[in-house]
Amino acid sequence: MNHQQQKIEEAAASVNEKRDQVSRSPWKPAYHLSPPAYWMNDPNGFSYYKGEYHLFYQHHPFSPEWGPMYWGHFKSKDLAHWEEAPIALAPSEEYDKDGCFSGSAIEKDGKLYLMYTGNQWTGPDHDKDLYQVQALAVSEDGITFEKAAENPVIDSAPEGDIHPYHFRDPKVWKKGDYYYCVLGSRTKDHVGQVLLYRSKDLIEWEFVNVAAKGEGNFGFMWECPDIFEMDGHTILVMSPQGMEPEGNLYYNLHQAGYVVGNLDYETGILKHGEFDLLDHGFDFYAPQTMVDPAGRRIMIAWMNMWESHMPEQEEGFAGAMTIPRELILEDGKLKSKPVPELEKRRKNHKKYENVRVEGETALTGIEGNAVELMVTIDAEEASQFGLKLRAGHKQETELLYIKEERSIVLDRSMAGEGPGGVRKAEVELADNLLNLHIFIDNSSVEVFINGGEKVMTARIYPDQESSQVRFFSDKPVELLQVDKWDL
Ligand code: FRU
Repeated sequence: MNHQQQKIEEAAASVNEKRDQVSRSPWKPAYHLSPPAYWMNDPNGFSYYKGEYHLFYQHHPFSPEWGPMYWGHFKSKDLAHWEEAPIALAPSEEYDKDGCFSGSAIEKDGKLYLMYTGNQWTGPDHDKDLYQVQALAVSEDGITFEKAAENPVIDSAPEGDIHPYHFRDPKVWKKGDYYYCVLGSRTKDHVGQVLLYRSKDLIEWEFVNVAAKGEGNFGFMWECPDIFEMDGHTILVMSPQGMEPEGNLYYNLHQAGYVVGNLDYETGILKHGEFDLLDHGFDFYAPQTMVDPAGRRIMIAWMNMWESHMPEQEEGFAGAMTIPRELILEDGKLKSKPVPELEKRRKNHKKYENVRVEGETALTGIEGNAVELMVTIDAEEASQFGLKLRAGHKQETELLYIKEERSIVLDRSMAGEGPGGVRKAEVELADNLLNLHIFIDNSSVEVFINGGEKVMTARIYPDQESSQVRFFSDKPVELLQVDKWDL
């Protein structure tokens, strides 16, 4: 057994000892991906290989805290039902001894390649004392991965105004005769940027250029970049660290969003427009996308935020993924929509039509801790109206539309345990209607507003008994339609 296999077995034994306890936690997600035990962060290697979707993730299999990173693994035939697969990568070699950091996957010659960052600490200060290289691992069955003999395939950051050590999270794709890869980086004086490389064989990599770099309030480091083409445009998705709050925006510790532009593959330069968030809630980071056999661009993100209090750690795990969201480019903006495959999980449909609400109302059967809700509200004369989710004795997570401000507010300050706070997003009503598509799971809520024009995501930690949904309004509104399914 090689060193990596040995480390994977030790990790599996550690996870196995804890999994029963975790499965009993009332905060363990019912239909979102979360680790069988211990720690999860970024989605990695999101891909489709031999008829199945694969999603790997940053995993620390020995505690519910971040630590030396392994790659955990799930696979799925339909994006709705997932199966746990064995841990795929362990930090086993000199070049990745302190962690197999984030990366991506691509199929080549019938094999599945993972490209990831090997992390080494060179001293006690994790912000400064690090060395990062890029490495490959390959599999013929999508389950067991061998690290490449040629590793590290990129052993140092390029020359120029490029920080020599903060150099990570390769996302690889193919175009024409080349494989391309984009990497997260910063300048020597800490301005976020991304680097473009190309290769004919995934082994020999040539640095092309700094594809994009922040100007103004754009963070000190861009993590987890992802570049793809959509309707003749190039989209760069990235996770800037350290943007300052502006108006309603950027109140999370770090951000995750995108720019739309055009990548010149010869010069390696991406000309692009303004940055926009991919989610306006609290817990959304390091999204990664893949294109599926039907040509859809699907995104999954880590449904947490760095340095945020995670009460689930007391239960032996930490971290979850968002549901898979399909990205669509409309009028220069990305919309996110839940993938329709999730409909396969629906049970116990309850439906109401044309219900008038004034004050506060609950509807029999519209409740639950692992449910999907679709609600269309005619705002009529109301100036403030909304929903309370996971409501119960002294707990609620409020979604409030404020007409005067043309904004929707997600308020988790009374949600239960865990961090509180408020996030606000601008939302225009069309024909005076507000359309909400809501996914509630045991410790999360994701709200897709007006067809995915805005999305707001939050981890919340209510009591199990707090499972009501209440509708409220300051003047009469009409619930044109309310649908609920258990998931
Ligand atoms: C983003 C990130 C990546 C890194 C990984 C380490 O959340 O910091 O840049 O590769 O997490 O776990």
